[in-house]
Amino acid sequence: MTLRAVAIGIGHYLPDRVVPNSEFEATLDTSDEWIRSRSGIERRHFAADGETTSNLATRAATAALKDAGLAASDIDAIIVATSTADLTFPSAATMVQAELGMRHGFAFDVQAVCAGFVYALSTANAMIVSGQARRVLVIGAETFSRIMDWTDRATCVLFGDGAGALVLEAQDGTGTSEDRGVLATDLHSDGQFKDLLYVDGGVSTQTTGHLRMQGNQVFRHAVEKLAATAEAALDKAGLSAGEVDWIVPHQANIRIIQGTARKMGLDMEKVVVTVQDHGNTSAASIPLALSVGKQRGQIKTGDVVVTEAIGGGLAWGAVVLRW
Ligand code: UT7
Repeated sequence: MTLRAVAIGIGHYLPDRVVPNSEFEATLDTSDEWIRSRSGIERRHFAADGETTSNLATRAATAALKDAGLAASDIDAIIVATSTADLTFPSAATMVQAELGMRHGFAFDVQAVCAGFVYALSTANAMIVSGQARRVLVIGAETFSRIMDWTDRATCVLFGDGAGALVLEAQDGTGTSEDRGVLATDLHSDGQFKDLLYVDGGVSTQTTGHLRMQGNQVFRHAVEKLAATAEAALDKAGLSAGEVDWIVPHQANIRIIQGTARKMGLDMEKVVVTVQDHGNTSAASIPLALSVGKQRGQIKTGDVVVTEAIGGGLAWGAVVLRW
């Protein structure tokens, strides 16, 4: 018998305020046409004043628990992937735990920027298969609007706020790729690329800082590394690209998403795309896309789903699961 971490609930939350590309034309030398054609983004959501990452995360968690037919009392652990926690500490995850009225179990954050959800999913899977937790709430939540430099047109038009959450449960499997649940994970980082995407502030420098990115350099790494990690994860799962039902990629740029699918020999009809509506929501983008993909009727029970992401670090990775 093999323990598997099976997805049993998914949900998301997006702040009310929708910002179309045209809003940036008033203050920046940019255009809706440039943003759409270079990134695929048409609009994004921004959190309201006072609305924090843990607020978004709690809303998404509540939706995921409802989808699973569970209460917070049924969960053993909460992992939040975020780079924009409400406070330096405690973790956003413990704030979600308190908001959900959960007094047992444990909660912590994972920080791997845009690859955060893939890292959190891999961590949750490891805890479940090693028997440390039976049900884990894995959340990606961000308020990247709070770290934008609104005078930098090369970055501030690309990011948005939101949250998605997934409930994973330990279930018995057979140890084959026919099992439901996480089938393989593949994680990487290479700190020599730290200057390509970073925030120029932090606790130790007593500043908050703003996001800085050499976009075209990150782009160059993205397609190659994402296709390689997705293929490595599939290989570990004993599956081929032809057996994939859905790629659910990090939603940073439609050209990266298309390039990665092309490199893997997959049709865009097998890719869940939400970048046009959400922009780049960093660690929240994959659980948001999983939730929207399920709502649209794309992702169904038994489907082979590959998630892949890359971001600051650089950090990247992929998780293969059967839904
Ligand atoms: O989520 C974490 C991982 N992040 C990513 O995956 C992002 C990866 N990078 C990208 O998505 C793309 O590189 C961008 C969308 C950021 C930029 O697209 P690009 O095709 O790589 O453009 P570029 O950076 O090479 O810039 C081309 C031109 C430049 O002008 P010059 O130097 O050619 O005169 C920029 O100054 O576009 C200019 N530009 C803009 N023009 C209008 C940059 N931002 C804008 C803008 N509006 N908002």
